[in-house]
Amino acid sequence: MKMYDIIKKKRDGEELSAAEMAYVVEGAVTGSIADYQLTALLMAIFFQGMGERETADLTAALAASGTQIVLDSLKAVDKHSTGGVGDTTTLIVAPVVAACGVPVAKMTGRGLGHTGGTVDKLESIPGFSSALPPEQFRAQVAKLGLALASASAELVPADKVLYALRDVTATVESVPLIASSIMSKKIAAGATHIVLDVKYGRGAFMQEQHAAELLATTMVDIGQRVGRPTTAILTSMDAPLGNAIGNALEIKEALAILSGSGGSPDLRAVSLAIAREMVLHYYPHFSPDAAQHMAEHALSSGAAMQKFAAVVAAQGGDLTRPLPTASLSYTVTAPRGGYVAAIDPLALGSIAVDLGAGRHKKDDPIDYGAGMVLHARVGTRVAFGQPLLTAYASGVVSTETQAALNSAVRIADSLVTPTPLILKTVAATAPPDVH
Ligand code: URA
Ligand code: CA
Repeated sequence: MKMYDIIKKKRDGEELSAAEMAYVVEGAVTGSIADYQLTALLMAIFFQGMGERETADLTAALAASGTQIVLDSLKAVDKHSTGGVGDTTTLIVAPVVAACGVPVAKMTGRGLGHTGGTVDKLESIPGFSSALPPEQFRAQVAKLGLALASASAELVPADKVLYALRDVTATVESVPLIASSIMSKKIAAGATHIVLDVKYGRGAFMQEQHAAELLATTMVDIGQRVGRPTTAILTSMDAPLGNAIGNALEIKEALAILSGSGGSPDLRAVSLAIAREMVLHYYPHFSPDAAQHMAEHALSSGAAMQKFAAVVAAQGGDLTRPLPTASLSYTVTAPRGGYVAAIDPLALGSIAVDLGAGRHKKDDPIDYGAGMVLHARVGTRVAFGQPLLTAYASGVVSTETQAALNSAVRIADSLVTPTPLILKTVAATAPPDVH
């Protein structure tokens, strides 16, 4: 096989075979195919697109490019979010679903850019460790039905190579490339059933609704073809999800929702919708209503809170010790009366990183107490001087950051209807292939 021929074939709009995909992926990992040839192919894919079969073959080849986790349990239902700001759902969904009897073996990541990472959030709990050796990870899933670990194994090395090239050659924004990248990592992490929270809106990877829908459909189709049944929910990322952005602040909000003492109704609703779909994969004879009811009961009965506490304790965390807090704060107040018309998730996500809640460089330390808490959501009627949000940091909040915070919230004279929080569910139309 020659890389030249593969590039030419794709350049001319033909579909590549599974063997050709495997050849490319292997060459990317071993370095036997030069970066300039890989990027030429990526650009050809960007312009020509990929067929459904071809996309699934690429995904399978990517998933097989490194360590693949095989869980002993028959079904492992995993969830994935395409990335948002203040997206605390995993911390709520995982214990809710585990409390419903669905085992959750969760490999999670650190924060990237303006989006936070579940591992960072969990590590703000004093003593918590996400570095679980594989045997301990499996044993904990068997005993408690839930483990939350950072991905330490070499999962999908080919994606690391291709993503780094896409990042510097303007070829990230290709639906088949994004879909295969995301799905390959879920598959390699051992998920037999996958629920995707595909964000649409200003703070999302896919800003346009139709693009997010296409991404969702493509990933559901991949799951179908590779025998890992997948459902996607389209949820809005026009504004940050929930009230808190930042690690310990998001843990606090998750605990409020788990204990029923507060937290954002939006965050609660999205979490329950994801939980419902995961429960449905595990108990396929349930109706959506029955699954939703089971998830709601896990929350309201306190079972999910108990599950979370048990998992945190098993991983060394101590919820009786205070969570880290930041020493300084700055509150944005309404410059005039009216209705909150927009809260810019991208702006707030990157300000949160500046405040210390995320990293600019891979090895930057995190200030677990830093971040912000929103006091209003899109549609809230506010009076002049009413607090809109409070930012927390360990250092003084600069006047530049203060100005950025102030312009992240827009007030209008009349009520603006927010885009639907939960737009739709995308499920496979035919029964999945047997695996
Ligand atoms: N997230 C991923 O994991 N891969 C992509 O290609 C884009 C977003
Ligand atoms: Ca949040």
